[in-house]
Amino acid sequence: MPTAALSARPGAALRGRIRVPGDKSISHRALILGALARGRTTVEGLLEGDDVLATARAMQAFGARVERTGEGAWTIDGQGGFIEPDQVIDCGNAGTGVRLIMGAAAGFPIAATYTGDASLRKRPMARVLTPLGQMGAVWLSREGERLPLTLRGAGMQGIRYVLPMASAQVKSAVLLAGLNADGDTVVVEPEATRDHTERMLRAFGGVVEVSDGPEGRTIRLPEGQTLAGCHVAVPGDPSSAAFPLVAALITPGSEVTVEGVMLNATRTGLFDTLVEMGGDLTISNRRQAGGEEVGDITARYSPLKGVVVPPERAPSMIDEYPILAVAAAFASGSTVMRGVGEMRVKESDRIALMANGLAACGVGVEEEPEGFTVVGTQGGNHPVQGKAHVVTHGDHRIAMSHLVLGLAADGEVEVDEPGMIATSFPGFVELMRGLGGDIG
Ligand code: S3P
Repeated sequence: MPTAALSARPGAALRGRIRVPGDKSISHRALILGALARGRTTVEGLLEGDDVLATARAMQAFGARVERTGEGAWTIDGQGGFIEPDQVIDCGNAGTGVRLIMGAAAGFPIAATYTGDASLRKRPMARVLTPLGQMGAVWLSREGERLPLTLRGAGMQGIRYVLPMASAQVKSAVLLAGLNADGDTVVVEPEATRDHTERMLRAFGGVVEVSDGPEGRTIRLPEGQTLAGCHVAVPGDPSSAAFPLVAALITPGSEVTVEGVMLNATRTGLFDTLVEMGGDLTISNRRQAGGEEVGDITARYSPLKGVVVPPERAPSMIDEYPILAVAAAFASGSTVMRGVGEMRVKESDRIALMANGLAACGVGVEEEPEGFTVVGTQGGNHPVQGKAHVVTHGDHRIAMSHLVLGLAADGEVEVDEPGMIATSFPGFVELMRGLGGDIG
């Protein structure tokens, strides 16, 4: 739903200690595995963003009882399997939601029809339909394997599938279908991607064997799994923490701490990169919470320098390149980001939209088919011009990235469709205002 534009203006330093909402990847998985399991799953810290709420509704449509019992507190009573929904499954803006749900549902002899918003209906689904088809599922889709589509699972067989692209969504869809397939299911990933599905399957009593070899990482799910409901404590989302932390790094005089951020190594590539750029980021109070390492991250305003981001780091920060590009705009020297073609098939073409948005804000960007270079100018931290209206194509991370830029720019930056920020980071504007940011 388009909403009025929102602006960020340069102003005071950002200061404070905050928490960000629960991790989006873990929140989707907690609902889906809770619905697949038998018995009660309790979740604390669930991200109550639009993407995850769509997954909660979908799980109800597949037969689970899903209830909100308090802020971020949910219970899921799973039936140990899915029933055929009598309504269309609308996953809204969520690629993770629809791809994981299609995988989970393919394990049962039921048909379901999936759709989503204008962005999701443009995104490629062949990447999950191809392996699910090899396992025995059938589907009918729009041209180009786009949503809406109807998928029916039947007589699923385990497969050995080598991921053609670094995608935790594809890996997860195959593993979830494998829960109800004959024979073992094996996924080989040449580059390790986020491992939340593997970890959470174990927490629900599943057996997952992981080994590293010359081919990459092999994940084996033996035949005949049963899942039992459990408790899931969702840690803070590092992909959301990225926005206030980068805002502090580029806004003079700032010091911001984000507490309880997940530090799973498959997700922390941005923090490593910011430190390499000279960012003063410190992690304290490292601890275990909900099966993940978490910590409190403090960012202080720092002179940044451009770096070449190793392409093999991409899977551990794929959603963070837009905000990294903003940090790069304030750095001295160029920041080179390559091997990130996957950015073009996210909620928007994020390479193109960051290139356009940064250029509108007076930043030099060189766009390539599978990457881009942001040219930080003038040496040392320097104010970026800003003074632009940025088109986001309804992409929450494009909107938040440019609002953060506006807090440290010479002039106001306005973004369209700010309502979409609630897909992943409800409360973003209030939280940034609480730190002293002039957004409104
Ligand atoms: C996600 C995986 C990533 C990421 C997305 C969440 C997940 O997508 O961009 O926001 O939870 O598995 P890909 O698997 O397509 O890279």
